[in-house]
Parts: sequence; C-alpha cells; structure tokens
Amino acid sequence: MTATIHVSAPGRVNLIGDHTDYTGGLVMPMTLNAHTTVTGHANTSRVWNLVSHDEAEPISIALPIIDPHLVYPSWGRYVAGVLFEFNKLGCEIPGFTGEIDTTIPIGSGLSSSAALEIAIARIVISITEIAMSETDLALLCQRAEHIASGVPCGIMDQLCIAVGQTNTGTLIDCHTLDVQHIAMPEEIKVVTRFISQRTLAGSEYSDRVIDCHAIEAIIGPLRLATMNDLSNLNDDRLVRRARHVISENQRVRDFAHALTNKDFVEAGRLMTESHASLANDYETSNSTMDHAVKTMMSEPGFLGARMTGGGFGGCIVGTRHRG
Ligand code: GLA
Repeated sequence: MTATIHVSAPGRVNLIGDHTDYTGGLVMPMTLNAHTTVTGHANTSRVWNLVSHDEAEPISIALPIIDPHLVYPSWGRYVAGVLFEFNKLGCEIPGFTGEIDTTIPIGSGLSSSAALEIAIARIVISITEIAMSETDLALLCQRAEHIASGVPCGIMDQLCIAVGQTNTGTLIDCHTLDVQHIAMPEEIKVVTRFISQRTLAGSEYSDRVIDCHAIEAIIGPLRLATMNDLSNLNDDRLVRRARHVISENQRVRDFAHALTNKDFVEAGRLMTESHASLANDYETSNSTMDHAVKTMMSEPGFLGARMTGGGFGGCIVGTRHRG
C-alpha cells in the first residue's frame, strides 16, 4: 500500500468586507479552529473513492471528468471540480481512496465547501508533486467552486483558507491578491454564532454580482469608485448596491487600522455599520439575522456584530472584550 496522505483545511469567518471580493475590493476574514480533513491512499486506478462522515452517500469519480456539475451525489461536485481543474493544467492524477471528516458546520456560511476544495487540492499536490503557489491553489479552487456550484463567488474564502494563520485576520486585496496578516489583539475575542442553514446556489448572490457588473459598466471599477460616482447612477437599487461596496471597502481599511491601534470600540462600530449596510443597501441579511445581531449587541462586553459571508442565512460574527 502507498503511504497514507493526510491533509487538513480550516473553515473561515469573515470579520469585515462582505460582497466586495468579486469586484476586486478588500476583505478581512480569519480561519476558524474547525477543519476538514482528508485521509487516504493513492492507487493505480483512475477512480477517486471517498466517504464522508457527514454525508449519507459516498462518491466514486472516474477520471477524466467530463462535467463536474453532473457528479452525483452533489457534494462530490466540489471534489470533481478540483480534479477537473488540475486535469486542465495537464496534471496526470492517479486514483485515490480515502475518507473525509469535518468539524466545520456544513451549509452555515463558514466555507465548508472551500475547505473541502483546498483539502482535495492539497491531496493532488501531495500525490503529483506539482509545483503551485498558494495563490494559484486558491484560484484553482475558486474556479472549481464556480463549476461545482454555479455560484460566481470571489476569491476570499479559498485564499483565506489557503494562507490564513491562526487567530489572525487575513487582509486581502482581491484585485492584487496581496495578503497582510493582522494578529487579533489578545484583548479581543471573536464570537461566531450559527443562525440558519443556507446555500448560496439559487440565492440572490448571483443577482448581486450582476448588479455590480451593471454598475461597473457605468462608473468603472467599484474598487476605485468614490461616493461622488453615485450621482452617475440613476437607478436607486444600483445606487444602494454601489454605496455598500464603496463604503465597505473603506470600512475594511478603517477596521484594519483600528485593530492595529487597539481601538476596539471603533473596530466594533465598523462591524455593526457593515451589517447595516449589508442589510439596508445590499439586502443580503434577513429579519432573523438582524434580530440575532441586535441580541448579540445587547449582551455584556460586545463591541460589534454583523452577518458574515454571503448572507441570506448562515452565521453572524461579533467581537467582545475577553474575560
Ligand atoms: C461567499 C463567497 C465569497 C464572498 C462572500 C461575501 O462566501 O464565496 O467569495 O463573495 O460570499 O462576501
């Protein structure tokens, strides 16, 4: 038997900067202390057989894959998407038999699918010894996510999971893909709270991406836009979408600055303001999440709270003084 291969990839929670990545804006997620692990052995067949402790049905995927989106059961599409993308690079992938385990709650907006993609990609890299930077690994997994789920997601989740460090914010410029690691000050605790199951496939996520394309066709790249550009948009919905993205990019900058200066009150205020912008202008929250944010803010010690990730359900995140 070939050597056992074991890889692990964390989930992520986004501290601030939502719905900014797909227009090349700024985000600051951090990895979670919850992981997806894959353990198994390569073999000379050209079939990937995987069982997951969290899924009823195993997957058996024969290479080469013609269309990852047709793989059944559907969780296998994330695996197939990654294998498909490596295949496109001309990478000869052998068979693999293994098992998957995860402590990341599935369908909660904590990027369990991106963690699975990164873990599978790390298995392929380990078997084939293909040289690949962490940024290219994240980009490959983002393409895999697009094919697997049909959701035109940005790069935030995959890049944070690929390069993130424990208890550290990953400040990403989604245009240049430059990353800055910002340690979470020890006075602050990040609290992630599950609100409801959700899936971005079939949600209004793609509608928001389309709105941003429409805005950029009029005023140019949103990452470079200022509030003055809003006057060139004559559709109220597009004005609100653009206002969110422009203000959110600035909030990420200000948040990073506040954290570095240990201005925790200001950092918290920016998180709560971000939630209001997502709820009112970007319309990716819902009444349950709004209520959960209010409740969190009424609890002793909390400095800021907001929905996190794609929205339409999922989790909220808050910061509070430790102790
Ligand atoms: C999902 C997507 C990310 C990002 C967030 C919203 O998590 O996968 O790329 O767009 O939503 O910030």
